[in-house]
Amino acid sequence: MVQHTALAVTSERITNLGAPFRVRPARPDDTWLLADLFYHLSAQTRYLRYFQPVPLSLHNAWVEGRRMARRSVVHGLTLIATVQPGERAEAVGVAELAVDPRAPTRGELAVTVRDDQQGHGIGTALLRQVVKEAQARGIAELHGDLLPENRAALRLLRRLPVPVETVFDAGTIHVVLRLSQELPDAAAE
Ligand SMILES: CC(C)(COP(=O)(O)OP(=O)(O)OC[C@H]1O[C@@H](n2cnc3c(N)ncnc32)[C@H](O)[C@@H]1OP(=O)(O)O)[C@@H](O)C(=O)NCCC(=O)NCCS
Repeated sequence: MVQHTALAVTSERITNLGAPFRVRPARPDDTWLLADLFYHLSAQTRYLRYFQPVPLSLHNAWVEGRRMARRSVVHGLTLIATVQPGERAEAVGVAELAVDPRAPTRGELAVTVRDDQQGHGIGTALLRQVVKEAQARGIAELHGDLLPENRAALRLLRRLPVPVETVFDAGTIHVVLRLSQELPDAAAE
């Protein structure tokens, strides 16, 4: 039987460089935070995420932010990573879990980290949390697509302690995470 238990926890984390960041479920009022993240992505990061280097206008970044911030619990989850360098929090990463209501044991996965924060462990923290959330919801498979040159994402996925399958298909790498294994607890991360 499929469970729909959402953990939806907030966790306080430390980057590889020792800086604090927070991972939490996105809320509807995070639209502008997410829009700002997407508006400032480099062409290369947008290309790796969307497979197109198209510039994202402020309006389109806002539409994308709103889409993510409003994802309903039934259809998945958006996790947001934030830092607070001053009075205002900034979004530095986002991970999306999309669940097809017609196939609720299958999810789609996507993750993006702001350029200046890549390589600091934020993508790993987001993905590990998404895997835990997906397992709590009874999801058995997480699917994603990568460009073949996206070595950073492939390495990140292969370090997750769940079986990862990759299939080269029509110029992209289709990745399937089999969520049959429990993740080690946070102390082991
Ligand atoms: C893929 C991505 C989410 C990884 O996030 P991240 O926060 O940089 O990942 P982490 O810091 O946790 O590191 C993951 C690994 O990738 C490496 N890495 C991160 N950024 C890198 C870069 N720009 N070039 C090469 N390697 C990189 C890290 O060193 C680490 O490898 P290692 O620990 O095995 O040495 C991020 O690079 C990104 O947003 N890319 C563009 C969007 C994208 O490709 N999304 C995936 C498809 S949906």
